[in-house]
Amino acid sequence: MAQPIPFQYPERINLARTPTPLEKMERLSEKFGVEIFFKRDDYTGTELSGNKVRKLEFILHHAVALGADTVITCGGAQSNHCRATAFAAKRLGLKVVLLLRTPDPDQPPPPEANILLDRLAGATIIWITPEQYQQRDQYFAWQAEQLVAAGACPYIIPEGGSTALGAWGYVATVEELVNDVTELDGSDSVPTTVISAVGSGGTTAGLVMGNKLFDSGFRVVGVNVCDDKDYFQKVVGTILNDFQDRYLAQPVVVTPEDIEILDGYVGKGYALSQTEELEAIRDLARLEGVVLDPVYTGKAYYAMISELEKNPDCFGPRIIFIHTGGLFGLFSIAEQMAEIL
Ligand SMILES: Cc1ncc(COP(=O)(O)O)c(C=O)c1O
Repeated sequence: MAQPIPFQYPERINLARTPTPLEKMERLSEKFGVEIFFKRDDYTGTELSGNKVRKLEFILHHAVALGADTVITCGGAQSNHCRATAFAAKRLGLKVVLLLRTPDPDQPPPPEANILLDRLAGATIIWITPEQYQQRDQYFAWQAEQLVAAGACPYIIPEGGSTALGAWGYVATVEELVNDVTELDGSDSVPTTVISAVGSGGTTAGLVMGNKLFDSGFRVVGVNVCDDKDYFQKVVGTILNDFQDRYLAQPVVVTPEDIEILDGYVGKGYALSQTEELEAIRDLARLEGVVLDPVYTGKAYYAMISELEKNPDCFGPRIIFIHTGGLFGLFSIAEQMAEIL
């Protein structure tokens, strides 16, 4: 039996409705002949729904402890992270500035779905081009300078909250999952593969680290919804190195094999849906009464069932698919979705 690795959670603010339920997908399990559970992180809240709020619990505690009165963050136009940040910040009485990516900032997308919610929460939205987004650190710095000049105290949250501090949110999720499977099995747990979408890497980094810290023996698989496997192995590896440097007195061995990225399901590209993915979302809604989003969970789910169709044993006897939320994104592609209903 491996020695437990000593660690202490950083302080956090309670924002997420946790622990989230672990629900068995009965008909889906029957279809593929393996147990398939969904960890319902879409139930972490309504405005705060999804994976981001778990990271924000730690990040916003830090912001408040430093005396921040404004948070600045960034993402794609329909960013769930930005929407969750806007509402979480409002719960804490903070102002919010969002740098949102769009091809033409003079003609920003309509106020639909997450953008509508960002505006409802009173976030200041600054539209920037994809090229400007590449230089987002500079834009963060400019925004912060302007806010400081106006007497504010800004706190910058990098893309997706995918920092070492944010990764604690998914370390905590592994602790929940260990309890979930113990409730299912008692002490002898069935080999379990945990699958989730990868967008900026923090969720996967937290799951990989949590798996080590709790010696839970899960196989952690991330499905990239943009970029590729090499890119995300580096991104997740960097977050994990930073995590070790900041928080662990004793090193943890993380190999590239621990950061398993299932590549090949980006499809048409980030936030672009192909018909097969939308059909998978539709079919799951009809089979199990569960709604996925098109940008993250829909792609990760489509990847999972496509692999199971090729080989039902490929993930072992038990799968936990983390439903990381993002439902509002579905309303931004209503017309495209309606075509297959
Ligand atoms: C709904 C949803 N699921 C999954 C992810 C991926 O998480 P991460 O950015 O931590 O890789 C994101 C954000 O990118 C998201 O909004």
